Amino acid sequence: MTHQRSLTLNENDAAQPLCDLPVLSGTTGPNVIDVQALYKETGMFTYDPGFNSTASCRSTITFIDGEEGILLYRGYPIEQLAEQCNFLEVCYLILKGNLPNKDEINTFQNNITMHTMVHDQLTNFFKGFRRDAHPMAIMVGVVGALSAFYHDALDIRSKKDREMCAIRLIAKVPTIVAMCHKYSTGMPFMYPDNKLSYVENFLRMMHATPCDDYLPNPILVRALDRILILHADHEQNASTSTVRLAGSSGANPFACITAGIACLWGAAHGGANEAVLNMLEDIGDVSKIPEYIKRAKDKNDPFRLMGFGHRVYKNHDPRAKLMRQTCHEVLNELGLHDIKLFELALELERIALEDEYFIEKKLYPNVDFYSGIVLHALGIPTNMFTAMFAMGRTVGWIAHWDEMISDPEQKIGRPRQLYTGAARRDVPDNHHQA
Ligand code: SDX
Repeated sequence: MTHQRSLTLNENDAAQPLCDLPVLSGTTGPNVIDVQALYKETGMFTYDPGFNSTASCRSTITFIDGEEGILLYRGYPIEQLAEQCNFLEVCYLILKGNLPNKDEINTFQNNITMHTMVHDQLTNFFKGFRRDAHPMAIMVGVVGALSAFYHDALDIRSKKDREMCAIRLIAKVPTIVAMCHKYSTGMPFMYPDNKLSYVENFLRMMHATPCDDYLPNPILVRALDRILILHADHEQNASTSTVRLAGSSGANPFACITAGIACLWGAAHGGANEAVLNMLEDIGDVSKIPEYIKRAKDKNDPFRLMGFGHRVYKNHDPRAKLMRQTCHEVLNELGLHDIKLFELALELERIALEDEYFIEKKLYPNVDFYSGIVLHALGIPTNMFTAMFAMGRTVGWIAHWDEMISDPEQKIGRPRQLYTGAARRDVPDNHHQA
């Protein structure tokens, strides 16, 4: 990171500049104005609700170019990773910075496999939930409960302990996600099977029972593996920023990841994939698309076209293109009846992308637009879609948490505000009288 030049800040045409602020450059992407000294020098804060123009940290993990539709994990294009790697190789890359060699991935895979079981007492936490509790509510509760275990490796200043937390979370989240599904159906939990790959193991825990085993179709395994790769990380998105902020106070890492799960649940973020499928089912038929497009454009209607738009991508979300291709492959190769839903999605995409409103506001399909259809085709219940997103994103969250803790500049995150409330006033003597 280089400090090439500074920016001189003037208030109106005052003779004396307010202050000089360094401009920093990274490997690629926009330069940043380092405003750390601004308040001390000028007594003023910056103001950026929603952080449209704010870089909260420096990071070496993921790079996004929203104008060009580029997404790199540790410098590798998402298109190449989705095509040539599997999810655990991508987890290794995101965590350690480089793709693993054969020995490294075998050791990593074995470590993950050896930690897929959860503490038997963790199963007790499910019993407090109604059977129809939303899986994300259960995820918040049960992943949060992990913070009450594993006191053997919770020194966040120890790299070894941080690596152990990463292994435990990447290994156990799929087991917990599958348990959420089993709990909702009244079926018994399935133990992991150490002979299976990461995704085979998850699908078996989701769909097998003690009476009937289940060997997943390789097409479904490859599709889900790719979905996890596409969801693994995405720079400083809302849930990752939540994990960083929670972690900046030194909180328990399992609790920090749980904060990320809570944030991801929102329909504006990871909850969108579930909302897309519900929206497509509400639309039901191509003939009703214009009515929904009209509603999405109506400022007085809170309805938004779920799966469209993105804070960063003002061009195509590269993940949406890959997801659309995966969708096509899965539906065609399995000859599934969901083709109607897919055709509805394609028609909705076509109409929206020809509409002036969507063109002018640069609203393109995002990763969530097609992921719901693929997950539906994989037999995943709609209300489990965001939990699947959390399964993919766990590695991104823990990698950012680790990077934040290891950052020598790290300090507790504590934004300020523009206060617009009441000026100082005294409590009236008779305030307690009605
Ligand atoms: C994810 O940050 C990440 O990287 C997130 C993510 C990740 O991998 O972590 O990529 C995952 O969260 C993808 C986004 C999933 N969410 C949805 O699909 C929900 C629908 N999309 C919108 O809610 C919205 O587009 C957001 C939340 C995604 C982005 O919102 P922004 O950047 O705050 O943009 P905005 O709300 O200011 O919208 C700009 C304009 C507004 O109109 P004006 O006030 O300028 O007149 O575009 C309109 C919005 O009303 N708009 C939409 C719309 N999205 C934005 N209008 C209709 N339908 C939409 N989907």
